[in-house]
Amino acid sequence: MTATANYGVRDEKIDTLRREIRRHDRLYHEMDSPEISDAEFDALMRDLRALESENPDLAADDSPTQTVGGAPSAGFAEVTHRRPMLSLGNAFDGDELAAWRQRTLDLLETDSFEMACELKYDGLAVALTYENGRFVRGATRGNGAAGEDVTENLRTIASVPETLRSGGGDSPAPPALMEVRGEVYFPKSKFAAFNAERRASGLPEYVNPRNTAAGSLRQLDPNMTAERPLDIFVYSLGYAEGGDVPDTQWETLDFLARLGFPVNPHNRLFADAAEVLDWYAYWVERTGELDYDCDGLVVKVNRFDYQRHLGEVGREPRWAIAYKFPAEQAETTLLDVRFNVGRTGSINPYAALAPVFVGGATVRQATLHNEDYIAEKGLRRGDRVVVERAGEVIPQVVRAIAEKRGCSDEQVHMPRVCPSCRAPVRRREGEAMRYCENASCPAQLVRRVEHFVSRSAMDIEGLGAKQGQALIDAGFLSDVADIYALADRRDELAAMERMAEKSVANLLAAIERSKARPLANVIAALGIALVGAEASALLARRFGGMDAIRAASEEDLTALNGIGPKMARAVAAHFAQPSNAAVVDKLAAAGVNMTAESRPSDAGTPLAGKRFVVTGRLSNYSRSAIQDRIKELGGAVSGSLSGKTDYLVAGDGGGSKLAQADKLGVEVITEDGFEELAAGGGRLL
Ligand code: IVH
Repeated sequence: MTATANYGVRDEKIDTLRREIRRHDRLYHEMDSPEISDAEFDALMRDLRALESENPDLAADDSPTQTVGGAPSAGFAEVTHRRPMLSLGNAFDGDELAAWRQRTLDLLETDSFEMACELKYDGLAVALTYENGRFVRGATRGNGAAGEDVTENLRTIASVPETLRSGGGDSPAPPALMEVRGEVYFPKSKFAAFNAERRASGLPEYVNPRNTAAGSLRQLDPNMTAERPLDIFVYSLGYAEGGDVPDTQWETLDFLARLGFPVNPHNRLFADAAEVLDWYAYWVERTGELDYDCDGLVVKVNRFDYQRHLGEVGREPRWAIAYKFPAEQAETTLLDVRFNVGRTGSINPYAALAPVFVGGATVRQATLHNEDYIAEKGLRRGDRVVVERAGEVIPQVVRAIAEKRGCSDEQVHMPRVCPSCRAPVRRREGEAMRYCENASCPAQLVRRVEHFVSRSAMDIEGLGAKQGQALIDAGFLSDVADIYALADRRDELAAMERMAEKSVANLLAAIERSKARPLANVIAALGIALVGAEASALLARRFGGMDAIRAASEEDLTALNGIGPKMARAVAAHFAQPSNAAVVDKLAAAGVNMTAESRPSDAGTPLAGKRFVVTGRLSNYSRSAIQDRIKELGGAVSGSLSGKTDYLVAGDGGGSKLAQADKLGVEVITEDGFEELAAGGGRLL
């Protein structure tokens, strides 16, 4: 997420320029049909660079200025990860870490476990695949399920081994197929020199090492990547087959080092929570001495059998946690408190700040969340305030410095009417937000359109916030699905101000193309609360079609590994709302793709799309172990039988569930039968 995404104040000009440049670049590189001269293209790039250097907080990894010749990332092939690349939950203080440890002890039913403690490098996660000891493929994390193929770029990093040390001496034999995960970074010592060189050649400087590492790795021309002194630390084995691999994280780190991978020398293995706290205190003081950015520690349960038992919730493993270092802080002035209207009608207060460089970027705005937050901090316009920003996290106003308050500082009041449509604003019960309740509020619709057409959703170029606003004002759009009716109104569109015939043609072509967007993007475009790109991809993969997702109950959804109860509730609530259901119907009627490329049953995981209930005592699995295994193989597990259940796995003493299965016509299988299915025994195909 860019720092700006959440508080909705997008610098429209930058956004439009980026889209324009990407479009021209695609026309030039992919379609061989440029619409503008090279000089005109260069002028657009110059404008964008100038704007970005004036607004460093609007920097984005995927900006054309960060990728060669403005080339879009669409230039990379997609790589599906064998196992999803997960995120990490955070602990921000010792109490939160202690709570994580206690929960882990409880779940493991033990009174101690070892923890592998590593630094949390602030770079770009990658997966490196080796076949028979040779580097064959490298991918970015992407949305966690699939990333971009950046093999050739990774080959330019000297410390990524091309071939692994194998057998002999101290080296183990590598598995026949293995995927190693790590973090690519731009060494801090080289960053300053790199920027100095750019400055000398009249090129704009990069804002921070992290974004530059990301931009460098995603250069379309590996020669460009080779000019960047990137480096990497590896931290895990994502997948292995055909060979022995260790049983613990600690041994894995050693195993990887002995195969020739760069493993960080500061990793530690601890058994006591106190040792972790000491180590944290040690690093809080010393990260400045490291040649790479770190934003915390990663504490991982050492034993893999424990990790499997703990599993994951959503996209976060329960077996690891990021213990974050305090975010960097700076002092500035709160110039104003302003409000914008979100996609859901929420009235979002944000701070307009005197620009200040903090956490690797210049911050001019910060979210203020809601009125309770403003009241709790006692913020007044004109206050001197402390702001903080860590990595990609949205800047925050931490507190007002009351001692420095002038007598002219003004109290902040929430608006009583919507700043856009002037409809009354209401605070919903039990919520801290105020909402504009006008379902046809144009500001809400603009935000929804903006989200719908964005690159991670329907990717419709030529329909930015400005055009969206104009189309809404002119009565063309009353919901996002109306975008697909624009084709019938070509002449009216062309008659609009600043809508040249050519741009209408381009826009309509982009709209038409978007109908074939993958289901995951269509789901993401709906803007369901809490459902981002990863969850959308998961829903698409597991359900195979929009109808199945709409029909899914909250329970069906929570049964999926990766969907937590809050998200399940949000999905079910979204489709239960008639206006949302109507939009999906309209989209389907307009010919928007509503099915996944592969049906759930051939999605590559043997239990995909199948629903299981487990009963009785099993001999090889604990209850939670078999549940994890089913989910890992793409199936869903539920606590109770229904007509939708595909299999009841019955161990000793199955009892009443057996009779119930019989009544419902659910197939009952033994543990052996389950193994047969899990091995892809053909019964599901
Ligand atoms: S373990 C299973 N170890 O943090 C959880 N991740 O927030 C994630 N990261 O995408 C992988 N240093 O890019 C792990 N020592 C470390 C790490 C690390 C940095 C990043 C990684 C991941 C993100 C998750």
